[in-house]
Amino acid sequence: MLKALRGTKDILPADISAWQHIESCARDIFAIYNYKEIRTPVIEQSSLFTRSIGDYTDIVQKEMYVFSDRGGRNIALRPEATASVVRAYIENYNGQLPKIKKFFYLGPMFRAERPQKGRQRQFHQLGAELIGSDEPIRDAEIIYMAVDFLENLHMRKDEFYVKLNSLGCEKDKALIIQKYKKIISPILGKLCEKCKMRYDKNALRILDCKNPECGKILKNIKVENVLCSDCEAHFKSVEKYLNDWGVKPIIDPKIVRGLDYYTKTVFEITHKKLGAQDAICAGGRYNNLIKDIGGKDTPAIGFAFGIERLILAGSFCDKEKPLDVFIATTGKMLNEKALMLLKELREGRVRKSDNSLISYDVYLEEESLKGQLKQAQREGSKFVIIFGEQEFQENKVLIKDMKTGCQEKIDCDFRVILAEIEKKIREIDNP
Ligand code: HAM
Repeated sequence: MLKALRGTKDILPADISAWQHIESCARDIFAIYNYKEIRTPVIEQSSLFTRSIGDYTDIVQKEMYVFSDRGGRNIALRPEATASVVRAYIENYNGQLPKIKKFFYLGPMFRAERPQKGRQRQFHQLGAELIGSDEPIRDAEIIYMAVDFLENLHMRKDEFYVKLNSLGCEKDKALIIQKYKKIISPILGKLCEKCKMRYDKNALRILDCKNPECGKILKNIKVENVLCSDCEAHFKSVEKYLNDWGVKPIIDPKIVRGLDYYTKTVFEITHKKLGAQDAICAGGRYNNLIKDIGGKDTPAIGFAFGIERLILAGSFCDKEKPLDVFIATTGKMLNEKALMLLKELREGRVRKSDNSLISYDVYLEEESLKGQLKQAQREGSKFVIIFGEQEFQENKVLIKDMKTGCQEKIDCDFRVILAEIEKKIREIDNP
């Protein structure tokens, strides 16, 4: 039997309400903060990612899905979207006013990682990028927005942590790497093979090695007080704003991030309920990236949530959305009439209190009324409109409330039926 690829998952109708809920909460929050949606292609030139994420990062070294297309071009499935947004920004807006551009995106990303809980090969991110400002208040604003979003999702404040660090400017970052290498050098022999390989080219990654032995050895090492006065002042200011706004970040020098483009502020939000892969959100400043990939020198900051991890961390309803109204007949003779009514009801486009449209269906493949009512039950229908012989003679239909079993006879006029259905559904929604 053909199966979904390892590390990929079908999102079935029963799962979709959590996804839609998260997406709509995100859209609400992003709109409040004036972020505009951007959709970039899933495929890009692979050099976009090697140049931005970095040649020696895990993502570029072994996790990127790359292939040559028929024209011999080197293509990658995007492993993340910051580089794509930056590419789109340079291509479409760089240098234009307004100086600050705020984008948000959601969509699939691809990394050939070893699948485990909270780690997939196709996963989905929901991210935001603020381009055009180096002000610390913007760092605080975007981190606060991430927290605001979690609160909008009703995540409990005591279940997630905002961890904050600064890698400083290019000079500071080089110094941090140098200092860590100095501390790690004498203990390198005790670390795993991966860490040994990372030492020369990507030493910062050693700090978040997931090997438990390495974790124990590295537990207490940290490099502090390496920031230049400008970067230190920037960091202190971000911390102050966040504290003033009630976020209370945990300062964690071990947050160094796995992508090369970061400078200054970096942060992660971790969730208590998750295991080894506990980061539900991660981000930071990337002040040099736009210039490095060919744009004007423009500072920027952003983050991305992993949607699968948000779902693992939250308690979202996992039920298929029930049908509102089912139409049943007592015999084939009435099908034509029922289908005409169904068409008219659907075209009525009546909305429920949650703003979604009332849904209708039939199951005329089944002749018996009993069979049709069973199907209505399987679909979770709230009401069934029954066309019976006798009612047809009287130009009436029955409306059956599937919860109480009560039936009512009303005129077989789609306006009357529509008004009745709307009234009854509103009564259920707002008891
Ligand atoms: P990242 O840390 O690579 O950063 O990914 C961000 C989030 O995506 C992670 O915290 C996690 O929730 C989720 N994630 C990453 N890999 C996987 C996976 N294999 N399976 C499931 N979820 C995953 C970035 O991608 C940066 N572009 C974030 C950013 C935006 N920085 C600045 N702007």
